[in-house]
Amino acid sequence: MLIVRAPGECRRAVAELPAPVGFVPTMGALHAGHLAVIDRARDENAAVAVSIFVNPLQFGPHEDYERYPRVFDRDCELLREHGVQLLYAPSVETMYPEGFSTTIDVGRLSEELEGARRPGHFRGVATVVAKLLGAVAPHRLYLGQKDAQQTAVLRRLVHDLDIGTEVVIARTVREHDGLALSSRNVYLTPEQRAVAPALQRALRATAWAIEEGERDPRAAVELGRMELTAPFREDYIAVVDPATFSVQEELRRPALVLGAAYLGVTRLIDNVAVPAEGGADPIVTPRRSQHGSLRVP
Ligand code: PAF
Repeated sequence: MLIVRAPGECRRAVAELPAPVGFVPTMGALHAGHLAVIDRARDENAAVAVSIFVNPLQFGPHEDYERYPRVFDRDCELLREHGVQLLYAPSVETMYPEGFSTTIDVGRLSEELEGARRPGHFRGVATVVAKLLGAVAPHRLYLGQKDAQQTAVLRRLVHDLDIGTEVVIARTVREHDGLALSSRNVYLTPEQRAVAPALQRALRATAWAIEEGERDPRAAVELGRMELTAPFREDYIAVVDPATFSVQEELRRPALVLGAAYLGVTRLIDNVAVPAEGGADPIVTPRRSQHGSLRVP
């Protein structure tokens, strides 16, 4: 695996890779969720590039930028084991040198829910991913479904700026008890870890109420909320339109049930899809066979 540190070096290295190239942007501290996305990118492309960059622009002043887990050598070992050809790992100074001042604002989509709770977060995500895509110029960009609103923001970015990369969303990987894998799960104490799956249960209960015919999204959320007991502190549970992320006042399918909640100082997010009747998951991209064509189920 070749490790490159600067955008020009990255572009030259990608030009040497066989096409198509699948790209997985990460902040490191890789877990089985990242590795599943990387494996999928490897299955569907001739080469895989990954980035590791803990992006200061997407963290708020009181968030966990400083303590975000950084385990570069272990990450490199995992990437080698999973057949990644290229790792782009720029420094903060390379990404944001003195005088850097351009940021990308994707508008309304980035203002609801996560955007409202974490002002500037999606501007930071859109800006860094635009820079990473500029350096890697992949055929396909792979993202995880767990950060549902991020996937919508980045789809919008790629579409609006004519970036010409296909966006592929991979299914969330979960622990045996339903907890979505996240680099932030390492912050949980054993007691918090034991109750953490309640967030997913709350979202599932909300989705289940809708599947069973509840027409009022607020009533469905109330039902789900009953799963989210102390020590969890709810930030929000909402039923949203998967295209616009606006909160649904009247139920329309497909829908997404999104949730965020705190265990101590750790904030967990998750989502559960409610497909259109008889339809497919509104976010996850169907798998392809290697190098492109859609796989017949
Ligand atoms: O999801 C993440 O890990 C980050 O938000 C991303 C997409 C790598 C941008 O920093």
